[in-house]
Amino acid sequence: MNKNCKNVYITTPIYYVNDVAHIGHAYTTIIADMLARYSRLSGSSTYFLTGTDEHGQKIAQSAISRNKSPMEYATEISSKFKTLWDDFDITYDKFIRTTDEEHKIGVQKAFLKMYEKGDIYKGEYEGYYCVSCETFFTQKQLIDEQFCPDCGKTTSIVKEESYFFKLSSYEDKLLKWYEESEDCILPRAKKNEIINFVKRGLRDLSISRTSFDWGIKLPACLNEPKHVMYVWLDALMNYITALGYGNDDKNMNQWPASVHLVGKDILRFHSIYWPAFLMSLGMPLPKHIAAHGWWTRDGEKMSKSKANVIDPKEVANAYGLDAFRYFLLREVPFGQDGDFSQKALIDRINSDLGNDLGNLLNRIIGMSGKYFDFHLSSKDVLKYHTKELEEVNSILKNVEEYIYKMQINKFLEDIWKVLTIANKAIGDYAPWNLIKENKKDEAMALVALITNIMAKVALLLHCVMPEKISKIAQCIGIQINTQAYERILKQNILLADTRITKVEALFPRIEKILLEQAPNMLVKEENKTNEKTIKENSQKTSKNNDEKENDNLISIDKFFETSLKIGTIIEANEVPKSKKLLKLQVDLGEKNTRQILAGIKEFYSAENLIGTQVCIVANLKPAKLMGMLSEGMLLAAKDENGLHLIRPEKNKIIGTNIS
Ligand code: MSP
Repeated sequence: MNKNCKNVYITTPIYYVNDVAHIGHAYTTIIADMLARYSRLSGSSTYFLTGTDEHGQKIAQSAISRNKSPMEYATEISSKFKTLWDDFDITYDKFIRTTDEEHKIGVQKAFLKMYEKGDIYKGEYEGYYCVSCETFFTQKQLIDEQFCPDCGKTTSIVKEESYFFKLSSYEDKLLKWYEESEDCILPRAKKNEIINFVKRGLRDLSISRTSFDWGIKLPACLNEPKHVMYVWLDALMNYITALGYGNDDKNMNQWPASVHLVGKDILRFHSIYWPAFLMSLGMPLPKHIAAHGWWTRDGEKMSKSKANVIDPKEVANAYGLDAFRYFLLREVPFGQDGDFSQKALIDRINSDLGNDLGNLLNRIIGMSGKYFDFHLSSKDVLKYHTKELEEVNSILKNVEEYIYKMQINKFLEDIWKVLTIANKAIGDYAPWNLIKENKKDEAMALVALITNIMAKVALLLHCVMPEKISKIAQCIGIQINTQAYERILKQNILLADTRITKVEALFPRIEKILLEQAPNMLVKEENKTNEKTIKENSQKTSKNNDEKENDNLISIDKFFETSLKIGTIIEANEVPKSKKLLKLQVDLGEKNTRQILAGIKEFYSAENLIGTQVCIVANLKPAKLMGMLSEGMLLAAKDENGLHLIRPEKNKIIGTNIS
């Protein structure tokens, strides 16, 4: 996408209807949806296209194997894609099918235009074809003289009359475009691959087939009833026929595309064939073609035979759509391959979403309710917190740039830096102490600061997690719209008086332990019950702790198995590169001090802890955290007012047992 672009046009690939949607399809569509939502919110007129690719030999064969006509089969699968995107609240403006009449007319008109220009001629094709990839190969390109170099499947020999597109005559023009338009292909590494490929020489492209008939016919005036169009020519044209090319031209002002999102496997079609076709048609070229990597599952390639294909619907049902969207966008840098594992997803939910974001909102609700009857004013924010605000604004000033460069994970990382500033400010200024010291204005300024930060974060994150962020917006009383975006994010205007409304916990903690019981829950039918169990259990854990405790009563002997002791912290240091950990040396009256790594850095500064007495679990198995030994645990309690260490009311002799 481009900065200050009034018209934004975002596309996904159109998906083959030979199979139902999986995580790869959901990934592209969710990125596109995120970009479209962001673009609309920032005030650009935005058009977002997705759809299905329904012609070609592959679809015809899949239909036959299911005893259906290609059209019947294509309609069935296409509607499954559409329903999925509707269920996922994907904000597409048009869902195109290549079997749509307008599309067919548009493609025929484009074909004729290229033909009349002299870029299409009739000849004979002799070579190899991979039906699965719908791609032509020379014998030299094959693996062991018969297998497809892209997917490894057996290719078939094709010898038939065919129309050709003069791709070879676009070699120099393409290279010039790559050179002049710096970011036309993203990421840059992929662009270099394409340049090298084109430099090795392009052959003319066979663009019609006669050995099957499931495709768009050539223009009638050519009188070639046996020919149907090559499915990639047909499919790529969707990007303009969807805007009305060759018909009413209604939305052609949206062209050229701001970004075509594609997977790395189909980048060549988009960055070589497509711009060459457009040059032939005399049309402007897309601004960016952005290629993402592939998802694997627990380190393995996904395939039906391994039964490890991830159904996006199941993940969204089990963990929540917004958490799934966040995970996909945050976990892997755009362009790189990524691995999907439930463990990684749960970690993101519990840590980034539950602790950093959800808990911050809980603290706003808790503190505003307890100290200010849910009414906040920003009047003293600048008096006490210019430093924090400047820090936050300078980070957020640059995040938009990451979107334009398709560095979505960096966009999210910076938003999380801002959340860390907010969480840390609560620990640093300890509003509960300010209240005790009768500094109500200062406490108000702090809570209002956090609320203002939350408002900025919400406006940026709405495109990623629309449902949850709408709840945050409702809680802190802001609207998610372009005016708010301008005022709060661009002009850095602080919120006027705000009323906080309570909302339910946004990201209840998910217990990891349950994962081991259902490692395959997303794949196998018989494990669907486990999926339910995970969700139900996680809700139970968060909502119904009292009940759980009653179920799990323990005997006094069991309690005494835990050795709890009083200790004094005699040394405390920050752990470099860790947001959460402090390294403590605790004196328990033993020969050596204990080294304990405690996740309290956001709430306590190291120097303030020295000399403090704390309660220690003294017989915990030592564990390694960030490569360092931890030989015990501090007792602490955490709620919306922050985390507090449990300490003896009066100093006790070091090593005293707690009972
Ligand atoms: N029909 C063509 C696209 C034509 S666009 C003019 C096609 N369809 S597809 O259904 O096979 O693939 C659609 C997209 O899904 C591709 O961008 C592909 O990269 C992506 N993915 C398929 N498997 C994937 C993963 N495992 N991970 C990520 N994306 C993957 O190609």
